[in-house]
Amino acid sequence: MNIKKDYSLKSLNTFGIDVSADYFVEIFSKEELKEILNEGILSNNTWLVLGGGSNILFISDFKGVVIRNSIPGIEIINEDDEHAVIEAGAGVIWNSLVNYCVERNFGGIENLVLIPGTVGAAPIQNIGAYGQELKDTFVELTGLFAETGSEKTFIKSECNFSYRNSIFKNELKNKFIITSVKLKLKKNPDVNTSYKDVKDELTRLRITNPTIKDVSNVVKSIREGKLPDPDKTGNAGSFFKNPIVTEGKLKELKKDYPDVKTFTAEEGKVKIPAAWLIEKCGWKGKRIGNAGTHTTQPLVLVNYGGASGKEVLDLADKIKDDVYNKFGIQLEFEVNVI
Ligand code: FAD
Ligand code: EPU
Repeated sequence: MNIKKDYSLKSLNTFGIDVSADYFVEIFSKEELKEILNEGILSNNTWLVLGGGSNILFISDFKGVVIRNSIPGIEIINEDDEHAVIEAGAGVIWNSLVNYCVERNFGGIENLVLIPGTVGAAPIQNIGAYGQELKDTFVELTGLFAETGSEKTFIKSECNFSYRNSIFKNELKNKFIITSVKLKLKKNPDVNTSYKDVKDELTRLRITNPTIKDVSNVVKSIREGKLPDPDKTGNAGSFFKNPIVTEGKLKELKKDYPDVKTFTAEEGKVKIPAAWLIEKCGWKGKRIGNAGTHTTQPLVLVNYGGASGKEVLDLADKIKDDVYNKFGIQLEFEVNVI
């Protein structure tokens, strides 16, 4: 096993934060992971699994072992007239899995195109965008418990998926390492145009009977117009989750802000766009030192170059305080602060 010391993580996190790990190892198979666990390398050290580093903010050097999950492989493992079940290695780039499915007209994840990162990280926060979530097509995942090395397959009902959340972000945080994921896609797919921006863009393009390829193209162009490209400007997508509030809270809010937009959430609650709350607090496009909010989407915090993780975190805390003081709403981080 090739374990490297004092390894730079700068190009391995999309915020581009200049930190390093005491130890770094890249794995390409479940067997290699088993070897690491059998040798007790994780038992004596703090450790972290890293995928594409697109949902992480490092605030200091990592004093432990970083395991980069690069397990490859996409395979159709089961197929009938209506469905295809696909298994992908945890290290597969999520967007290449989306493209693989769209090319074959396998529907169910086309609205999740261009989400950065790996397949293995997708269940962690149940990735979602433009009307689809991972859980909609998820069948099961397999991985290893770090402490014992034992293997387990989790079926959907065991994963406790909800908005940007799962068991792997809670009870199993830093306990379980995902090695592969299975999804069930539709071979005669219906398109999901429930998100207003998607519907509007299809109308503008006069596409009346969209295919999943059309939808993925439209989502791609919306995303490219709105979100900063991490290769050019460091960021980790939405820094905060959209807060979910009660109807009562919404009513209160509407007295002062009748224009507030909402999205439906579970059990009669509503989701308020955090971007709107942040903009109303005057943070849109603001910059403090090398960190700031993106000019067209203030929910995305950016590294304008050379920002430390602490600088980004301080900015996030200031925004959080302002939103709480103005609206009485607690924003929650979506990004994992390490
Ligand atoms: P990492 O950042 O490497 O890791 C994230 C967390 O998962 C860490 O806690 C890590 O330890 C853990 N982890 C990673 N792999 C494994 C594994 N194999 N086993 C166990 N734990 C693991 N997210 C959305 O949901 N919707 C969006 O629309 C979206 N848009 C984005 C746009 C941009 C420009 C960016 C930069 C990010 C966006 N994100 C979005 C966030 C991010 O892309 C997702 O959360 C993605 O799933 C993270 O994948 P990753 O491989 O980079 O994970
Ligand atoms: N808005 C503003 N000001 C702005 C931008 C947006 O007020 O400058 C308001 C508007 O009312 C707009 C609403 O916010 O209608 C929603 O904006 P947008 O469509 O950009 O989506 P979002 O809620 O900000 C969420 C996800 C994204 C996902 C998109 C599309 C979260 C935390 N974020 O963003 O996911 O791509 O919807 O589904 O749920 C991510 O998780 O990293 C991420 C990028």
